[in-house]
Amino acid sequence: MQQYSDRMRRLDKTIAFVPTMGYLHEGHLSLIRKGREIGDSLVVSIFVNPIQFAPGEDFEDYPRDLGRDLELARKNGVDVVFTPDYKELYSKEFQTHVNLKALPNRLCGISRPTFFSGVATVVAKLFNIVKPHFAVFGRKDYQQIVVIRQMVCDLNFDIEIIGAETVREPDGLAMSSRNVYLTPELRNSALCLYKSLQHAQNLISSRIIDSKKIIDSALKMITSCKDTEIDYIAICDPQTLVDVKKVDRKALMALAVKVGKTRLIDNMILIP
Ligand code: PAF
Repeated sequence: MQQYSDRMRRLDKTIAFVPTMGYLHEGHLSLIRKGREIGDSLVVSIFVNPIQFAPGEDFEDYPRDLGRDLELARKNGVDVVFTPDYKELYSKEFQTHVNLKALPNRLCGISRPTFFSGVATVVAKLFNIVKPHFAVFGRKDYQQIVVIRQMVCDLNFDIEIIGAETVREPDGLAMSSRNVYLTPELRNSALCLYKSLQHAQNLISSRIIDSKKIIDSALKMITSCKDTEIDYIAICDPQTLVDVKKVDRKALMALAVKVGKTRLIDNMILIP
C-alpha cells in the first residue's frame, strides 16, 4: 500500500481515501463518489477495527461481506481496496494509542470510553499507510469527524478532511451497516431518531430555543416508540461539543438510542 501511494505521489497524483469497516451501503458509496471527484487515485480501506469495540460490543457479529464490497468498489471506480488483516496492523508488540484529551469525553464517548482512542489510533495508522491528500468521512459520525480533524491538526497530518452529508433511506433513517440488525418492527421504531431531530428544528423555527425544552420533547417522542432506550440526547457547540443552553446560533443536536439491541446514532445542525 505504501509503495503504491509513494508511486502515485512521485507521479504528482493526488490520493483520496475513504476509510471504512466494510459492508458498504449507499452512505459509503456517497463518500466513495466524493473521493472519486477529488482525487486522481481513490483508495478505500476495509478493516473492522477491533480496538474501537469494547468487550461485549458487536465486533464478532459486525456484518461483513468482502466479496460484495469489492464488487461495489469496482463498480464505483475505486482504484485500490486496502484490506489489512488484524495481525498486520496490530503486532504483538503494538503499544501506541492516540488519545485526545477533551473531545472523546462527550456524547458517544461517555458510554463508549475507549471508542475514540480506537478510532483515532487506526485512522492515524491508515493515514500513515495510505498517505492520502484527502480523506472523506460521513457526517453521520459527527463526533468522529471532529475528533479526526483535531488529531490531524494536533499531529500535523498534511491531509484535508472532508465531511460528506448523511445519506438517508426515503423515510429518513440514516444509513448504517448496523441497520441490518433491525427487524421490520424495530426499523419502524428507529425512525424516531430522525423524527425527533426534525421536530427539534421545527420547535426552533417556532422560536423555542431553550435546549432543555427541546431535549425533553425529543425524549418524549423517542420513549413513546417501542423498544427504545436513550443513551444520550445533546445540544452542543458544533466544534467543541460542549452543551449549549440555548440555540441562538448554529448548534449540533446529536443522539444515540438503542433500538432493541442495536445502538443507533444520528445528528442534525440546528439553525435558529
Ligand atoms: O467510521 C468508520 O467506519 C470507522 O470508525 C473508521 C473511520 C473506518 C475507523 O475504523
